[in-house]
Amino acid sequence: MCGIIGYSGHRPAVPLLIEGLHRLEYRGYDSSGVAFMQAGKLHVVRAAGRLSALEAKLAAEPSMFSTCGIGHTRWATHGAPEERNAHPHLARGGTLALVHNGIIENFQELRDELTASGCTFRSDTDTEVLACLIEEERKRASSLLEAFARALRRARGAYAVAMISPEEPETVYAARLSAPLLIGVGAGECFVASDIPAFLAYTRDVVFLEDGEIARVGRRKGREGGTDEARAWELFRLDSLAPIHREVTRIEWDMQAACKDGYKHFMLKEIMEQPRVIAECIAGRVPADPGRDEAEGVSLPELDGLAVPRRLRIVACGTSFNAGLWGARLLERFGGVPVAVEIASEFRYRDPLLEEGEAVLAISQSGETADTLAALRLAREKGCVTLGLCNVVGSSVAREADAVLYTQAGPEISVASTKAMCSQMAVLLLLALYWGRRRGRKGEAGLLAHLRALPALLDGELPSMRETAARIARACAGARSFFYLGRGPAYPLALEGALKLKELSYIHAEGYAAGEMKHGPIALVDPEFPTFVVALRDEFFPKIVSNIEQVQARQGRVIVLTQADGRNGCGKLHAEEIWTLPACRPELASFLALPALQLFSYEVADYLGKDVDQPRNLAKSVTVE
Ligand code: G6P
Repeated sequence: MCGIIGYSGHRPAVPLLIEGLHRLEYRGYDSSGVAFMQAGKLHVVRAAGRLSALEAKLAAEPSMFSTCGIGHTRWATHGAPEERNAHPHLARGGTLALVHNGIIENFQELRDELTASGCTFRSDTDTEVLACLIEEERKRASSLLEAFARALRRARGAYAVAMISPEEPETVYAARLSAPLLIGVGAGECFVASDIPAFLAYTRDVVFLEDGEIARVGRRKGREGGTDEARAWELFRLDSLAPIHREVTRIEWDMQAACKDGYKHFMLKEIMEQPRVIAECIAGRVPADPGRDEAEGVSLPELDGLAVPRRLRIVACGTSFNAGLWGARLLERFGGVPVAVEIASEFRYRDPLLEEGEAVLAISQSGETADTLAALRLAREKGCVTLGLCNVVGSSVAREADAVLYTQAGPEISVASTKAMCSQMAVLLLLALYWGRRRGRKGEAGLLAHLRALPALLDGELPSMRETAARIARACAGARSFFYLGRGPAYPLALEGALKLKELSYIHAEGYAAGEMKHGPIALVDPEFPTFVVALRDEFFPKIVSNIEQVQARQGRVIVLTQADGRNGCGKLHAEEIWTLPACRPELASFLALPALQLFSYEVADYLGKDVDQPRNLAKSVTVE
């Protein structure tokens, strides 16, 4: 949800800002802009549409000698995605430029107040209001830092902001409240950004900002004490401006993790990475030596100090919600913990009844999704133990939960989530086994052996899966609507399959529990309306075969994703297309079916010429509600 980058250092700033924006484009891409200091003057260049439009405009703009600036790629909240609403926004008097991610909830009130004191606005955005407010506050404040803080103290809502001003031409100011922002610390240069890939090519040393903190980065003339480079970044509390000490964190990713690595799209690369993702997710958590499985089982030391909850509430959005739904049945079956799964945006507004001993698990790849974070905070207020299942280290959910389990999937750049779901499922399975063991349940050691073998099985299968996906995708790409059906663990997979197809290809798709089909949706079935059935070889197989027959009896086209070798012996499958995955333990079959569904959506979208990594209207990290 909007990407922010800021730079102050010794290199030409504008190319760095553009490079950073390319890496942040997944966060929003309806308009973009940069502001930079050149010969003591503030320049702003903005463009509607993709970053290429901004680059074209910048080609005509001299910016060579600028070494300080800010940039923004937008996902519109206030005002249409037009150039006048694109960031950075200048304060009326031109004394500063501001970029912003989030929503200032009281912006109308502030705008009215500023209008009454003679301010006029050129955009419809809340950001311009904030820029003008800082300029107003500067008249009363003793420094730019104080003016920045005074204005932000009046803003309600969520924000990450970055600002530059000719008053301090080599400094970037930044602050955050419920929206991600971090500092990249290089040698004689500093970055501020919404996400690490924005500056990963230059430094892996990161300082995480907390809510209610201000960062000041870059050189400032005439500062007392120490050399400027030695103190290239500082943190202050927003409320008191007291300085804050924070350690620098070294990020373990390298640039390769944030590159396409020869693949046509990030999404394809991330789908193909799933065998490694599973392997890394279980490494150190499952005994390396099978002989120790029975004695040791799964270890999750992050949770050793916390009691096994009496009940668990999972809160999440989007793909993470589907992962939660998938994990719930395993947590009940292996972990012996009753589980309810809720969409975070519903949970947070309904004053939920939470019992004593109930824990809340927030699942979020980014760890920044506004609704998931709010649900976690609500659970804390209600006195629950809170757990986070996140991919992004140091994210808000990770920092605010009582304990966090990391999925260790590496950066996920494609807007449509793929490997993150795989990693969430793997951790949920481990969590179920871990809690089960702590409750005295044993006997799943056999499963661990299969889990260890899973990455190799999947790795061997992915190339042919992709070929099959491409072939079926071509045959189906003309359909206008799709059903996805599944039962048991395949039900959340059906939801996810439908979500992926609509996100990427804009084909209408609905996921249903196969047993619900006859209660209404079956009315839609006709020869033009294909049904994609996930029919894994588990105890639900005979039931779903009946559901397939019900669709076929109405002349519906059926594609079945199934597995070889049905031990449950149940009638022969007949369908227009039978896509057969290898046999495996039923608990692990979903790890094969998930990439097949992802590849199918990928191939449909690519065949239809859609923008796979940046589908229209979407954003990767939804930091507004
Ligand atoms: C957005 C993304 C989805 C993602 C959802 C939840 O809608 O486009 O891919 O599943 O947010 O994100 P989270 O980071 O909380 O898992």
